Amino acid sequence: TQYSLILTEQRGRVGLITLNRPEALNALSDTMGREILAAARAFDADPGVGAIVITGSSRAFAAGADIKEMASKSSVDMYLADWFSAWDELARVRTPLIAAVAGHALGGGCELAMIADFIIAAENAKFGQPEIKLGVIPGMGGSQRLTRAIGKAKAMEMVLTGRVMGALEAEAAGLVARVVPIDALLEEAMETAATIASMSKPVAMIAKEAVNAAFESTLAEGVRHERRGIFACFATEDQKEGMAAFTEKRPANFKHR
Ligand code: HXC
Repeated sequence: TQYSLILTEQRGRVGLITLNRPEALNALSDTMGREILAAARAFDADPGVGAIVITGSSRAFAAGADIKEMASKSSVDMYLADWFSAWDELARVRTPLIAAVAGHALGGGCELAMIADFIIAAENAKFGQPEIKLGVIPGMGGSQRLTRAIGKAKAMEMVLTGRVMGALEAEAAGLVARVVPIDALLEEAMETAATIASMSKPVAMIAKEAVNAAFESTLAEGVRHERRGIFACFATEDQKEGMAAFTEKRPANFKHR
């Protein structure tokens, strides 16, 4: 498929989506959201892809939703178009999704990174929800995902003041999984994705679903969800293979990878 604002490629079993709107610091227009969703869904549907990486440039992962595109919209325009709904759909993609973030990840850019399953950040990454300075609030899940990721005190401070957080603070706060030098960012993210993609894809999907259940349910419901998930694993050939390989002291040769 030909996209206008993103680049896609497949390296081994990893799908790579690169935001490619440098003149606007990867501001997330409606078209860009639809392209990202379409690309992620295509990788999700491909059994040959076991993990997806989404990245931007060294200067900006994404500097937010496209302010110029939104500025003149009315509330009714947004209701009728179900504005931002592509991002809810992106969160429903089942293949593990890693955000490799360098530079600005502001507003919608920070929210997109948080829609990913985890973030690997370059040392120059900057995270923030500056919407309040524009007279609005986060609209792609930021008020919810940031609060769950870093807790109320820091999330409230960031959402109310628009303060930007550097990579090290973001790591200490639990927003990012790991900080790496900028030159190593893509390589580290691709390697991590390749590790995930070497596992059984259905089992990785079940694992992702189980961790995500922690954000959407009570502890008891989440544990029940997990229990059903692990029982489902025992219905796969890959569970039999993984455990046989351990017993036979050899690497597992998963069928679904
Ligand atoms: C549209 C954007 C943009 C954005 C940058 N640009 N961010 N265009 N939407 N979110 C454009 C600029 O207009 C400029 O275009 C070009 O990208 C380069 O940006 P500069 O500002 O010249 O770069 P710099 O001085 O390096 O500053 C970088 C920056 C700044 C600090 C990231 O661009 C900035 O503050 N951007 C906005 C960040 C923000 O507020 N994000 C939240 C958006 S709201 P020209 O044509 O002038 O060269 C959001 C959620 C909305 O995401 C949900 C509720 C409705």
